Amino acid sequence: MTRNNSTDCDRRSFMVIIGFGAALLALSAWPRAAGAQTAGSAPLKIGMIGSGREGGALGTALVKAGHPVMFSSRHPEELKSLVDSLGPLAKAGTVAQAIEFGDVVMIVVPYGAMQEIGRDYAAALAKKTLVVDVSNPIARRDGADLVKAIDEQGGAGLATAKMLPGAHLVRAFNAIGSAKIAADAHRAGGLVGVPIAGDDPNAIAIASGLIREIGFEPVLIGGLAKGKYLVPGTPLGGEHSPAEIRTIAASLS
Ligand SMILES: NC(=O)c1ccc[n+]([C@@H]2O[C@H](COP(=O)([O-])OP(=O)(O)OC[C@H]3O[C@@H](n4cnc5c(N)ncnc54)[C@H](OP(=O)(O)O)[C@@H]3O)[C@@H](O)[C@H]2O)c1
Repeated sequence: MTRNNSTDCDRRSFMVIIGFGAALLALSAWPRAAGAQTAGSAPLKIGMIGSGREGGALGTALVKAGHPVMFSSRHPEELKSLVDSLGPLAKAGTVAQAIEFGDVVMIVVPYGAMQEIGRDYAAALAKKTLVVDVSNPIARRDGADLVKAIDEQGGAGLATAKMLPGAHLVRAFNAIGSAKIAADAHRAGGLVGVPIAGDDPNAIAIASGLIREIGFEPVLIGGLAKGKYLVPGTPLGGEHSPAEIRTIAASLS
C-alpha cells in the first residue's frame, strides 16, 4: 500500500486497518456469525439475478451444497430444464421474485445491466445480508464507453456500490470460468482460491462460508476499491492457489 505523511492518509490507513481487523474477526467468528445459516444447519435461501453460464453454474453448486436457490430470468419459463434437473431445492422465477426469495442475492449479469438493476431493485437489495457481485465490465460485450466510465469511478467494486447504495456487497468469482466451477470444486491436493473484495465484515463472513461450502477457499484481498482487480485479464484473473492470490494481492496498490 502506498503511504504518505498526510493526516488524511494516516486516518484512512487507520480505518483500513480497523476495517480489516473487523473482517478478520468476522471470518474467525464465521461458525458463530453465519454458520448457523448454512446448509449444515439452517440453509440460506439464495436468489440468482442472472442464470446464464456463470449464474447457472454457481446456483447449481449452491443447490448441491444444500441451499434453496431461485434462479431468475426475464423469461423464467426458459429455466425449466435447469431447475427440473436440480430437484426440489431449485426454483425459477422473475428477477423480483428471486430478490424477494433470497436471504443472499447473487448478481451474475452483463455489467451493462447493473444500472437497470440498481434503478429497479437497489432498495430491495439493500435489505439483504449479502449481495455477491460476480458481474464484470467487459468492453467487447458491454462497450468501451461503459468500461471507461467504470474505470473512472475506481473500477467495478466502487461502481457497483454506487449503483446499489446500501447493499452489503462482496465481489467474488469474477474470473473463474463457468465450466471451472464444477470442475475445480473441492480440488484434491489443494483448494482453488477465490479472491474476494468487500467492506462489510458480516457480508464477507457469509460469502466466505458459501465459497467454502461449494469447495473453494476464499481469500479477502481488500475492500471494494480492490474489486477493480477482480475481473478477467488482471493478475488475479484465472485460477490460483490461495497462497498465490495472497502474493499477487500484496503486489497490487
Ligand atoms: N461465463 C463465465 O465464465 C463468467 C465467469 C466469471 C464472471 N462472469 C460474469 O458473469 C456475468 C454473466 O456472464 P454469463 O457468461 O453467465 O452471461 P450469460 O450466459 O449471457 O447470462 C447472462 C444472464 O444475465 C441475465 N440478464 C441480462 N440482462 C439482464 C437484466 N437487465 N436484468 C436481469 N437479468 C439480466 C440473463 O437473463 P435473461 O434470461 O433474462 O436474458 C442471463 O441469465 C458477466 O458479467 C460475466 O462477465 C462470467
